[in-house]
Amino acid sequence: MSNTLYQLVYYSRNEVSGNEASFEAEVSAILEASRRNNDPAGITGALLFNGGVFAQVLEGPLEAVEATFERIQQDERHGDVSLLALEPIAHRSFPNWAMGFVGRSAENAERFSQIGIASGFDPASLGSHKVHAILKELTMDEERAAA
Ligand SMILES: Cc1cc2nc3c(=O)[nH]c(=O)nc-3n(C[C@H](O)[C@H](O)[C@H](O)COP(=O)(O)O)c2cc1C
Repeated sequence: MSNTLYQLVYYSRNEVSGNEASFEAEVSAILEASRRNNDPAGITGALLFNGGVFAQVLEGPLEAVEATFERIQQDERHGDVSLLALEPIAHRSFPNWAMGFVGRSAENAERFSQIGIASGFDPASLGSHKVHAILKELTMDEERAAA
């Protein structure tokens, strides 16, 4: 088995219906499953939610990234899953995150606006490098805040 690390970037449309509380409960369940599954599989990454859209970076060994993405694509909590990139990487961008999450909240509102995604987050037009950069910046903010 190759040791090469791969990084996958995709975005999708939220399909969770109901109010904010039910959405939050679904996100908690997603993160709980992610952290349980990703760590043993050697997967790290980050998940962003804004404006009805998810964007996620998954990184790890190719087989594990593909198997995880396969599972995620079947999930009915989102739809129109669109792959932006799958490429080999030299280093992990999110080594400390089994799955970091950044969603819209009062605390995050300012950060989102600083990087120009306060409203209308459109990963299709941003492209994989910009989506990656946004997630990296937001999770680094979280790391600094937690330090
Ligand atoms: C936007 C989104 C992101 C997800 N990310 C992950 C992930 O990184 N890892 C993971 O194992 N499951 C992820 N899931 C959940 C999977 O689709 C699936 O429900 C879960 O892996 C099932 O795990 P279980 O069989 O251990 O309960 C995600 C789901 C959604 C909707």
